[in-house]
Amino acid sequence: MKTKNYLLLFAVLLTTVVFAQQPKIKIQTIAPGVIKLSMGTPDKYSPYTFCSEKPREEAMQQLSDKSLPFDLKDVVVQKNSRGVQIRIPLNEEEQLYGFGMQIGTFEQRGLRKRPIVNDNPSNIGYTHAPQPFYVSTAGYGVLVNTSRYVTFLCGTNQDLSQQKPVIKEQEKLKFSTQDLYANQSQSKMSMWIDVPSAEGVEVFFFLGETLRESVQRYNLFSGGGAMPPLWGLGVKYRVKGDFNQDEVLKMGSYFREHQIPCDVLGLEPGWHTKAYSCSYVWSDKFPRSQEMIEGLKGMNFKVNLWEHAYVNPAAPFYKDLEKMAGSFLVWNGLVPDFVNPKAAAIFADYHEKNLVDKGIASFKLDECDNSNIMDAKSTWGFPDMTTFPSGIDGEQMHQLFGSLYARTLAHIYKKKNQRTYFDYRSSNVFTSSLPAVLYSDIYGHNDYISMISTASFGGLLWSPELRDAASELDFIRRMQTMLMAPQAVVNSWYLKNVPWFQLNRELNNADVKHVNADKLEELVRNLFRERMSLIPYIYSAFADYYDKGLPPFRPLIMDNPKDKRVRSIANQFMIGQSMMAAPTTKDSTTRVVYFPEGNWYDYNSLKQYIGGKSYMIEIPMDKLPLFVKEGSIVPVATPLNFVDEHSVFEITCKVFGNGSTPFTLFEDDGVTYDFQQGGFNKVVLSVANGKGIVERKGSFKGIRYNIKDWNFIK
Ligand code: GAL
Repeated sequence: MKTKNYLLLFAVLLTTVVFAQQPKIKIQTIAPGVIKLSMGTPDKYSPYTFCSEKPREEAMQQLSDKSLPFDLKDVVVQKNSRGVQIRIPLNEEEQLYGFGMQIGTFEQRGLRKRPIVNDNPSNIGYTHAPQPFYVSTAGYGVLVNTSRYVTFLCGTNQDLSQQKPVIKEQEKLKFSTQDLYANQSQSKMSMWIDVPSAEGVEVFFFLGETLRESVQRYNLFSGGGAMPPLWGLGVKYRVKGDFNQDEVLKMGSYFREHQIPCDVLGLEPGWHTKAYSCSYVWSDKFPRSQEMIEGLKGMNFKVNLWEHAYVNPAAPFYKDLEKMAGSFLVWNGLVPDFVNPKAAAIFADYHEKNLVDKGIASFKLDECDNSNIMDAKSTWGFPDMTTFPSGIDGEQMHQLFGSLYARTLAHIYKKKNQRTYFDYRSSNVFTSSLPAVLYSDIYGHNDYISMISTASFGGLLWSPELRDAASELDFIRRMQTMLMAPQAVVNSWYLKNVPWFQLNRELNNADVKHVNADKLEELVRNLFRERMSLIPYIYSAFADYYDKGLPPFRPLIMDNPKDKRVRSIANQFMIGQSMMAAPTTKDSTTRVVYFPEGNWYDYNSLKQYIGGKSYMIEIPMDKLPLFVKEGSIVPVATPLNFVDEHSVFEITCKVFGNGSTPFTLFEDDGVTYDFQQGGFNKVVLSVANGKGIVERKGSFKGIRYNIKDWNFIK
């Protein structure tokens, strides 16, 4: 932001303003382009209380200094016996997105949304990541800093009665339901936000030239986007829940012997002596757990452990936690009061000494959301009426539980200067820097695709995992989607054999080999290798996430703010600087692909497409459906079977068209946080006079990328 404008804005906004007939409102600029409006006494346990990351101010200064499209004086905030309500003006044109990883709806304008944490997402707002945060095509984001269940009326002309509505003259009374329903009030359109039982509120406004910039600003304010370890971008395979240590090792050998790329093996509930709730102690299926960890390490696998946070009486730290837990049990386990630093420390210390120090690379944090199911056998999620010793209530704890839990464990790795990449099933706001990816059991393929986009509006990452499949086509399509996502996961927690051995769950577990199993295995190997070849490209996209707040996987609306045709597109998305993914499902072998402005290439066939148009395109089975913007340079690596700290990627630079847009590869050790202290190189790839140029700048001593070839595609 230009200093002059910044100071002016600061001077105007730092003053306390009293709006006529409204409670006292305070407006402050709290970081470059972030304005906080506060009123009354906000809740003690707001999401921002738990954000330990500092805003990345320098990077935020680089973003535009455009102001809000409305006057803050026109924002209404009122407090009454119900709580606090906020009205924010909307213009006719703008479209809204966000509210966490919404499912079923993409454009939120005209809807009532109530983001509440739940495992069973719904159109009204139930989601794995309930974010009281939305962004607008008019170039701003609004975040209500509360952990309450909040309702957003996303574009209504219902107004307060004191506003004295102007009623349109009706020419002739019409009697169709539609005509009778049509609201004749000429009140302005606005967003109304209802925050029940609050004594006050804080609202954060994130400015931006475009929607994308307001998302970037939000991510930078939250500490910048997460930077996974390099191995986190390879394939993760989760083994069957009841596997013993020999079976796990055998699965590891299978991947290596069959040369199928895989970086992480994930163990499911059976590793605990007690699960549902958890003991966090190795069961007798793993009599020599350390030997297994070492064995897997020897085969270059990282180990991930499944757990949830409900602490079984058999857990060694149960007694210590007893007085620092919620008033209700879940599956007979304690619900740790993660708000209390002592409770978090007990939980974390145990994990550190007994698991992380022994070589566990990451965790899967299950069931940290909530459930609609209330039958005695399967319910989880403590009731909202649960009380916690810290004073946070059940409703607030629910909204924050996944993020508090993930922070508690992520902290261990940060302290050890070791990067990790978790799976988790619930999140909230200000979590952009958390190295964790959301997942869900719902398994609807169309939803899985659109959630890649919806997650990115609020600094979230999503992994559309692959399990069993209804048919070969279903399997292949799901696999393609999963390989084009922030994390590539095969979740075989209920399959004895790899899914491509047999797609049907029952037959798989009865060891009945699919007639096409060998053919499918060959396909899997090739598609996994495609993912591995893109790791340097995706990793560099994550560096932009950290550095500029730019989501590595994002909907087309972010890159094409002026193109109204992309507003509703949730089944195509950008990966990194210049690639566009267009997955499809089992229902089709072709699909309509829309190309935004510019010229595009099919990444596989190299066929060219003119932007601003839609084409019916055949989606291949044996390749990833990717398209590349003309002028781009895409670094493609010779695929490795796994990535470790010594891996060097052999790179071919594919130049699409004239290569006018340089590409920057991010090079570092790939496993520590040293990059935050400048321990990295930027390897800039560009083209001049028809020749490829490589420039390496930075203080990282190692070499990760060996640029061996240039491939010019005209
Ligand atoms: C579910 C989870 C699955 C698997 C399973 C194990 O809740 O979503 O991925 O981990 O538990 O019991």
